[in-house]
Amino acid sequence: VENVGRGRSWQGEKVLISAGPTQEAIDPVRYISNHSSGKMGISLAEAFYLQGAHVTVIAGPMSFKPKFSGINWIPVVSAKDMEQACLREFPSSDWTIMAAAVADYRPVTVASEKIKKKENTLEISLEKTTDILATLGTQKRSHQKLIGFALETENEEAHALDKLQRKKLDAIVLNSLKELGAGFGMDTNQVHVFTSSGERHSLSLKSKEAIAQELVNLFQSWK
Ligand code: CTP
Ligand code: CA
Repeated sequence: VENVGRGRSWQGEKVLISAGPTQEAIDPVRYISNHSSGKMGISLAEAFYLQGAHVTVIAGPMSFKPKFSGINWIPVVSAKDMEQACLREFPSSDWTIMAAAVADYRPVTVASEKIKKKENTLEISLEKTTDILATLGTQKRSHQKLIGFALETENEEAHALDKLQRKKLDAIVLNSLKELGAGFGMDTNQVHVFTSSGERHSLSLKSKEAIAQELVNLFQSWK
């Protein structure tokens, strides 16, 4: 059943996708995370797989799983875990897409015991995580394509273009949270794609599966 209906347009290409949130431990029973469902990343993985690509997903904690057992699945928890897995897999990847919502900050220390309720306020010091995508950007070789996602709530385009350049990406997919029904936890998404060569594409509001399909077709045109 695995190979039935698989196309060949991405045959021979290795695609690496990060998906979902990360969880940053506070103590043995608590963590900091975000609302990413992982659905966009999984939809992309399935779309690439169905076109014949060799697909690996580095997945933060999520309830979604890909429909196809032929997709390599590397589960991780924290931003540090995701960083290590990405650095390990990146060199052998032709196309890398960071769709994960990586935590920007993590607790400086993880309490070894459950933090007990005492004062009325509690402060937890946080430190920046490594920007995985920017790190991959500095390691990218000329045959490799690197694509990021951006989530913005204001000055969307300017911020996305800044990330495209700063992280040395070939393209960035801007998630428009302003559009009704788009974004975290929703089944639909509206995205704009900006490339380092100055192309811009706007995809209308549609299911994440349909967006994934269109993105894969768009990337195909850059090969
Ligand atoms: N990203 C990453 N490592 C991080 C943070 C983000 O690889 N520690 C990646 C995301 O997977 C995404 C891209 O960087 O592909 C942009 O993420 P986003 O959160 O929109 O931007 P940041 O650079 O984290 O900046 P900010 O959250 O302040 O907008
Ligand atoms: Ca961020």
